Parts: sequence; C-alpha cells; structure tokens
Amino acid sequence: MVVVHHTFTKRRLVPAPALTRGRRRDWNERFAKMTSTPARRFTVGVIGAGRVGAVLAARLRAAGHEVVAAAGESDATRERIAALLPDVPRRKPTDVARACDLLLLTVPDDMLPNVVSVLSASGAIRAGQLVVHTSGRHGLAVLAPAVAVGAEPLALHPAMTFTGTAVDLERLDGCVFGVTAGAAQRALAEQLVADLGGRTTWVPEECRTLYHAALAHGANHLVTLVAEASELLAAAGVDDPARTLRPLLTAALDNALANGDAALTGPIVRGDVETVRGHLAEVTRHAPHVLASYVALARATLGRVVTDGRLLPIRGAKLRSVLDAAEDVAPTAGDAVVVRSESPGPRQPGQ
Ligand SMILES: NC(=O)c1ccc[n+]([C@@H]2O[C@H](COP(=O)([O-])OP(=O)(O)OC[C@H]3O[C@@H](n4cnc5c(N)ncnc54)[C@H](OP(=O)(O)O)[C@@H]3O)[C@@H](O)[C@H]2O)c1
Repeated sequence: MVVVHHTFTKRRLVPAPALTRGRRRDWNERFAKMTSTPARRFTVGVIGAGRVGAVLAARLRAAGHEVVAAAGESDATRERIAALLPDVPRRKPTDVARACDLLLLTVPDDMLPNVVSVLSASGAIRAGQLVVHTSGRHGLAVLAPAVAVGAEPLALHPAMTFTGTAVDLERLDGCVFGVTAGAAQRALAEQLVADLGGRTTWVPEECRTLYHAALAHGANHLVTLVAEASELLAAAGVDDPARTLRPLLTAALDNALANGDAALTGPIVRGDVETVRGHLAEVTRHAPHVLASYVALARATLGRVVTDGRLLPIRGAKLRSVLDAAEDVAPTAGDAVVVRSESPGPRQPGQ
C-alpha cells in the first residue's frame, strides 16, 4: 500500500519532505500486521444443501474455505450439490458435523431445534466448533444444546430470496445479513458475512422474530400484492400486466425506500372517495377474492395519511365508511379462493 504522508503549512496540504517513502511504507505494513487479525479459513460442512445451504457453501468455497461434506436426501438437494458444490461428498448429517469446524445448518426453521438437539446429544457437534444457522426467525437460543457442549453459536440470516441456483451467487454481493452473535463471535461473524459478499446488520436476540416479520411482510406479501394487481389488469384486458406494472412498481418501490410515507400518491391520500368506491365495486364484480386485501391495505394506508396530517379527518371518515360497506360483502382474506383461468406459473421460493 502506498501511503503519502502530509503536513499542514499555512492551511495548505503539502507532501511531507522529511521521511523517505521506503521507511514510511515499511512502518505502515508493520502497523497493518499489528492491528488486523488474519482472516480465518474453515473446513465447512452443510446440513441441508437446499436453496440457501448450497449457495452459501459455494460462496464460502469461492472465498477460500474448504467445503468438506454436505447432507440432504431429496433429488433437488442432490442436484444442487452436483451443480453448486461439485466434488463435495454427500454424507449423513452426523458425519457432516464431525468432518468440519464450521457447521452450516440450513434446514427449515421448524426442523432446526430438533436437528441441533440430536447432533449435540450424539456428540457430532463438539467444543470449539462454530455452528451457524440462517433462519430469520431464530436467534441464538435455538443453538443452546450446541453451546452446552462448548460450540460457538451464530445466527446469520441473509435478507434475500433464494432460487437455489448459481443466479443467487452474485445476488449475495451487497446482501444484508441479519446477525445475532455473542461478543466473542462478532468479529468472526463480520468476517464470514464479508466472505459471503454481504454486509452485517446486528439484530438483538429478542427482536429476531420481529425482524423476520418485517422482511416477510415486505418481500412475501409484495409477491401476493403484485400477483393480485396482475390479475386485476388481466381482467381489465391488459395483455401484458408485467410490462405495465414493472416501471410503475419499480418507481413506487424506489420512492418509498427513499422517502417513506411521503412517496404515497393515489386516491386515498387525495381523499378521492368516489374513485375508491368505484374501485371496490369493480373489484367485487371481477375479482372478489382480491377485495379483502384491497380493503385491508386501503385501511392501513388511510390510517397513515390521517395520522401524519396529509388527509383531513373528515375526509378520512368518509373513506372509512366506504371501506366498511365493502368489507361487509367481502370474503375474509382466509376464505378468499383464487380461481385462475391459466397456469399460475412457477412457484416463488419462500423466505
Ligand atoms: N429460501 C430463502 O429464500 C431463504 C432466505 C433466507 C433464509 N432462509 C432460511 O434458510 C433456511 C433453509 O431454507 P431453504 O429455503 O434453503 O430450505 P430448503 O430449500 O427447503 O432446503 C432445506 C434443506 O434442509 C434439508 N432438511 C430438511 N429437513 C431436514 C432434517 N430434519 N434434517 C436434516 N436435513 C433436513 C433438506 O433436505 P432434503 O432436500 O433432502 O429434504 C434440504 O436440503 C431456513 O432457516 C430459512 O428460513 C431461506
């Protein structure tokens, strides 16, 4: 690293003449060695080489860690191992745990407590081993059986939706990881997230489920919202709903992320009662299964614009009575049945 040393003379920045560049560079190299810990490289085992496990292990491998074994039975998991982790042997979970010093547990959330308990009780997880899971909902508590045998726990959740293919590898660049870690594991957590190409945000143990609810509400319900908007456009005769929605929704998302509630436009914030009444009638006629979520989101939007003062309460009350009347005839969200005339297309990956 070339470092230019400066001194101030009459408020002007000039290069310092006294020190030779060679001596200055040597000192900086020595200083860097004194202050930075060399990155640790692990032998990695992955239990559950599913959408997330196979991709994270592949990315860790690319960063110089050695992936020594992976577990999983289904055809989909076997195919992912072959595609993303070529030459990595498939082993049963206890053998995977025994073979590595960083154990990646990427099983479904509801399986995680049992997997940790069984592996810890069987002696497959050992003292000093780093045990990492990627669940958004769980924090460190679920890893308590592993901690009890002396393992180091990390909860490291990528705020991303995965396809389980090579497409995801690049999406990890700049992806934020919600991390819960004890003081002793924080530096290591940051190193692993950096190796994965991501950035760390710290999530307190007690906020883990709320953190995950926020992401699910934003990302998963967004998929439902877009699907419903597409259905309404198709019912209105628009031949390519995605082409119509993409520029609009992209702009709305960008504006909302930049400006929050101030990004809102449309009939609710304008107080256009008759427009909302018309929407409700047409949605009821053509897509009654969409009515419950339209009303629920209109109510939430209305509450926010009245609270922050952009809509007069009297106007808000008129809108609320229109929504109340529509809700009386709407099927409840849980009862709403989607009837499609065409194939719904591929399933979206969950989060
Ligand atoms: N998908 C996402 O977009 C996403 C994003 C962020 C975080 N996450 C989190 O990442 C974790 C994994 O999710 P995923 O979507 O990758 O799941 P997934 O695609 O369903 O893969 C789950 C993996 O776990 C294995 N497995 C299931 N039950 C098991 C058990 N009892 N013992 C051992 N292995 C078992 C499965 O093997 P078989 O295939 O043989 O059944 C499969 O390889 C979850 O905690 C999830 O919340 C997911």
